[in-house]
Amino acid sequence: MHSRFTLTLATVLLSAATSYASAHLSEDPVHRRHLSRDESMLKRREPNFARDDSCVDPDPANTVTDRMNVALNSSGAGYVLSLCPGKQYIINAPILFAAPDQEISTQGYPTGDDRATLVVDGPVFNGTGHTTAVDGTCSNCSGVKLRNIQINGTRLGAPPTNGGANIEMGGANSGQLIEYVKSYDPRSWSCLHVQEGGLNCNNATVRNNDIGPCGSDAFQQWADGISMACANSFVLNNLIDNPTDGGIVLFGAPGTRVENNTIWVHDQTLLGGINMVDYDPWNGNYTGTVVTNNTIAGGFATDTVDEDQDSKGTNSDDVIIKIGIAIGPRTWFGDRYFNNVSQSGIVINNQLTGAFGYGIAMTSARNFTVEQNVLTGNTSFIGSRGPNCSSSDQTPNPSPFVIDFNTVSSSTTQFDFSSVPDGDSLTCVMPPTGGDYWPFGGNPDPSSSAIPVSVPEPSTVSSGHGSSAGRTAGLVIGIIAGVALIAVAAWFIRKWALNRSAPRSRFRRSEYMAGKEWL
Ligand SMILES: *[C@@H]1O[C@H](CO)[C@@H](O)[C@H](O)[C@H]1NC(C)=O
Ligand SMILES: *[C@@H]1O[C@H](CO)[C@@H](O)[C@H](O)[C@H]1NC(C)=O
Ligand SMILES: *[C@@H]1O[C@H](CO)[C@@H](O)[C@H](O)[C@H]1NC(C)=O
Ligand SMILES: *[C@@H]1O[C@H](CO)[C@@H](O)[C@H](O)[C@H]1NC(C)=O
Ligand SMILES: *[C@@H]1O[C@H](CO)[C@@H](O)[C@H](O)[C@H]1NC(C)=O
Ligand SMILES: *[C@@H]1O[C@H](CO)[C@@H](O)[C@H](O)[C@H]1NC(C)=O
Ligand SMILES: *[C@@H]1O[C@H](CO)[C@@H](O)[C@H](O)[C@H]1NC(C)=O
Ligand SMILES: *[C@@H]1O[C@H](CO)[C@@H](O)[C@H](O)[C@H]1NC(C)=O
Ligand SMILES: *[C@@H]1O[C@H](CO)[C@@H](O)[C@H](O)[C@H]1NC(C)=O
Ligand SMILES: *[C@@H]1O[C@H](CO)[C@@H](O)[C@H](O)[C@H]1NC(C)=O
Ligand SMILES: *[C@@H]1O[C@H](CO)[C@@H](O)[C@H](O)[C@H]1NC(C)=O
Ligand SMILES: *[C@@H]1O[C@H](CO)[C@@H](O)[C@H](O)[C@H]1NC(C)=O
Repeated sequence: MHSRFTLTLATVLLSAATSYASAHLSEDPVHRRHLSRDESMLKRREPNFARDDSCVDPDPANTVTDRMNVALNSSGAGYVLSLCPGKQYIINAPILFAAPDQEISTQGYPTGDDRATLVVDGPVFNGTGHTTAVDGTCSNCSGVKLRNIQINGTRLGAPPTNGGANIEMGGANSGQLIEYVKSYDPRSWSCLHVQEGGLNCNNATVRNNDIGPCGSDAFQQWADGISMACANSFVLNNLIDNPTDGGIVLFGAPGTRVENNTIWVHDQTLLGGINMVDYDPWNGNYTGTVVTNNTIAGGFATDTVDEDQDSKGTNSDDVIIKIGIAIGPRTWFGDRYFNNVSQSGIVINNQLTGAFGYGIAMTSARNFTVEQNVLTGNTSFIGSRGPNCSSSDQTPNPSPFVIDFNTVSSSTTQFDFSSVPDGDSLTCVMPPTGGDYWPFGGNPDPSSSAIPVSVPEPSTVSSGHGSSAGRTAGLVIGIIAGVALIAVAAWFIRKWALNRSAPRSRFRRSEYMAGKEWL
């Protein structure tokens, strides 16, 4: 009992400590935005076609790709490529960042439909061709920023094309920023990919973006919302609507924090809301990767009235999220990676609502912490073995939290997991075709892309409305409290580690945090 308590407490303290850190981050955007705008004014060079107060002319379209690339590759560090509000830029090759701290943004930094749009329009032949609108992976691309623009990937219902994501960032760089960007309909496998750069990528920030739709839910025509492989990064406050492969896919990306994102479906089935299943390229290392306070919404009834009053309705596209949060390579890939595991991630305090196959599915994992993830509003767990489920897999019945203890070790998990004998390859489940199975609660208009659920409330750690002196004080107090909490957490964790080295059951499950009153 006692050791369970310390374990849980350590977890709570850890999350509290990290939430202080993130509170600063989430308070930053406005502030930082002004700052970097001023900086860019000072640094901006002046190529002939663009003065300080002008923007790149989208016409003539047949030269705009080259004009933008020449501007970037001849203007050096800190150059801002400013696009005109409300304009479309028809491009036939990727726009390449070429030096540190460059920025591509819409003049005036609008956040809605006025953001300039890059339209992917280069040739595709025999399954390959132009897929990427912006590439920030050059060997000299630290600190580059992509802000307040839109990317129309123009797949337009075609099968996927081999090539990069709509946006390819990362590489062997640090300090990149992608914010207030809308990216949708990629020709290839992802709306936004941040590359690992030979495991040298560090500290990319992806926040306040609108992502999706991405891909099609037809077999293997899927695409991710955000694909993150860069270490010590942030994926914050993004709205991800109608992705089809993974909403947010963490490729290890150790040290990365994924917080306050909202992922939902409206007319396409999604395989995984948040994925921690990829063994490559970090060998399953999720050390310090924290997934917290995200909301994942599966399908809802599109009926407007509940005729038979059974609290369920039909969904006009039969859409679900097959797995809300997927942990461990076997969940996805079966035995493709043999007995390798995902290790050392933290999944805490996330909310699931709507229709799923499984809320959280966990297999082949070590040293994970999965706590305080909850079902909110109305939910359904539905679906059945699909034609591509292997006859050798015992696909478990749909349920909120499933875990395969045969392949999970040294982990702390919430008590409401149900144990299943075999959690391999769960994306083979299929939603029902028709029928009264979907919960009420979303927006009944199937063509609406409105968010079906409320997004998490701002955290109350420090108010964003105080004076700037008050804010700084809050920040300092926050940092001190954060450091103190980390010290306390470290003490408990050491104790936990010591406890763990004593021989006892291979696996430990913590108490349910009913009501959380004592936190
Ligand atoms: C700059 O971009 C233009 C247009 O794509 C290209 O032709 C040129 O080779 C590039 N120059 C450098 C130095 O990369
Ligand atoms: C990187 O950018 C800096 C600043 O513009 C420039 O001086 C340097 O030559 C660039 N290096 C490479 C390899 O492009
Ligand atoms: C199309 O691509 C395939 C490989 O993906 C290749 O074998 C074939 O030769 C290509 N066809 C043409 C006409 O280029
Ligand atoms: C994206 O561009 C294509 C081609 O121009 C266009 O048909 C489509 O409507 C655009 N999508 C949106 C959402 O504007
Ligand atoms: C991470 O990158 C941001 C820019 O997006 C920068 O402001 C911050 O200082 C960097 N953090 C670290 C620890 O390097
Ligand atoms: C996992 O990544 C962390 C941070 O990059 C590193 O310190 C640690 O050694 C790695 N662990 C393993 C088992 O590779
Ligand atoms: C277990 O995971 C935690 C959180 O990521 C990490 O700090 C710790 O080093 C890991 N321990 C081992 C033994 O890998
Ligand atoms: C995983 O582990 C096995 C040993 O169990 C090893 O042979 C294999 O190469 C590892 N890596 C991958 C990517 O499967
Ligand atoms: C099952 O797999 C085959 C290819 O192996 C594919 O053509 C088919 O669409 C898949 N069916 C489903 C329901 O995913
Ligand atoms: C849950 O479903 C019932 C109908 O069955 C509906 O009245 C209620 O508003 C729904 N709750 C939420 C939070 O949407
Ligand atoms: C969470 O994200 C939403 C949507 O981007 C945003 O409106 C809200 O302010 C964010 N909350 C916090 C605590 O940052
Ligand atoms: C999650 O958000 C709630 C408010 O919605 C906040 O109280 C809490 O501190 C946040 N937790 C973490 C771990 O960020």
